[in-house]
Amino acid sequence: MNAPRISQTRRIVTDLPGPKSKALDARRTAAVAPGVSSVFPLYIDRAEGAILVDVDGNSLIDLGSGIAVVSVGHAAPTVVDAVQEQIARFAHTCFMVSPYEAYVTVCEELNARTPGDHEKRSALFNSGAEAVENAVKIARHVTGRDGVIAFDHAYHGRTNLTMALTAKNMPYRHRFGPFAPEVYRVAMSYPFRDPEGMTGAEAAARSIEQMERQVGVENAGCVLIEPIQGEGGFIDPAPGFLPAIAEWCTANGVLLIADEIQTGFCRTGDWFACDHEGVVPDLITTAKALAGGMPLAAVTGRAELMDEVHVGGLGGTYGGNPVSCVAALAAIGTMVDQDLAGAATKIGATIAERLTALRGSHRGIGDVRGRGAMMAMELVRPGTKDPDPDAAKRIVAACHRAGVITLSCGSFGNVLRLLPPLVIEPQLLDDGLGILADAVTAEL
Ligand SMILES: Cc1ncc(COP(=O)(O)O)c(C=O)c1O
Repeated sequence: MNAPRISQTRRIVTDLPGPKSKALDARRTAAVAPGVSSVFPLYIDRAEGAILVDVDGNSLIDLGSGIAVVSVGHAAPTVVDAVQEQIARFAHTCFMVSPYEAYVTVCEELNARTPGDHEKRSALFNSGAEAVENAVKIARHVTGRDGVIAFDHAYHGRTNLTMALTAKNMPYRHRFGPFAPEVYRVAMSYPFRDPEGMTGAEAAARSIEQMERQVGVENAGCVLIEPIQGEGGFIDPAPGFLPAIAEWCTANGVLLIADEIQTGFCRTGDWFACDHEGVVPDLITTAKALAGGMPLAAVTGRAELMDEVHVGGLGGTYGGNPVSCVAALAAIGTMVDQDLAGAATKIGATIAERLTALRGSHRGIGDVRGRGAMMAMELVRPGTKDPDPDAAKRIVAACHRAGVITLSCGSFGNVLRLLPPLVIEPQLLDDGLGILADAVTAEL
């Protein structure tokens, strides 16, 4: 790997936000719709590896990866080279008009790397929400059944159908309805909040009873699930939950769609979170880390299902843009060459150790959970399981003030999540976790 041009160290040279960021934020207030918000108004000038440099020259540790996108690091040299070369050759033809090789190669990679060794086909889109929309389109078309079953705490995007599939009202759905019909919601396995000792099989039986009662098997086209929920709070279901849901789907002719938009591409220590329990979905949606920071999303599915959709039924002007496709090939190559799944496992072990130690000394940390480099802590009022979203806000803000980007999430807003680039250097991770520990100690 080339030596980084931006030193992989945290360095704060102004108050945060600094004067240039403040000036930009004033312009933003006058120009940008306030509905699009930012967690911390530091305007970024450059980035590399796990460091963001803002317009005032502050170097910040990125423990969020732009919400699980730059797993290969900011400005990964392979991605930069591929993008620069492609943009000079051609930026767009529209694959539906004049095709090109990189689109085909990305589909081959997706077909080979997603769970299951059956024959598959892929189609490319721009955003995660668009991929989810298309997966549901395909499932409905193939099964002839309208019902889409989603889970409590789910997040699938901000378009009309994906808002309907998303569980949380504020800020995602509030007054944006009416929503797409024939969407049903059932319980998720949530080990921290489920009855003590509830197994994955028991939690699945609870969800299956709800599916059969609310929807009816003959009306259910697909079950859509994040194998580990992202925005909903990094909820890792109890072992056995996902396999039991998959088994029920197979037995009833209901398609299982795994939404691996946040969990996919090495994030959890496997290529896909489904791999952990050997679950093979019928359709899988991917985006985020797929293209190393460029916008690209995909639906990959069993060939016999994907082949059912009529010619011209899927697509879009920009879907599978050639610059994004070469970025994806470079990102996937980097994941293989640098064993980023292995790196995610190591990062996860380091984070788990630090967070578990913190939990031992702070009763406001109710739970530490996650898999690989997708780790979180759930904050509660000490001695209870009552969510404490203010504590999450305070800790995130304290981290930001010290130059470490962390994110909150969760249906109750009380989960602090960590999603570092998988190439983060150990001493930088250590520094970031030290700042987090200081913030927890000061704020809890
Ligand atoms: C699991 C999951 N599905 C879908 C989406 C929507 O992706 P996008 O924001 O690219 O539309 C997200 C985004 O956070 C996600 O985490």
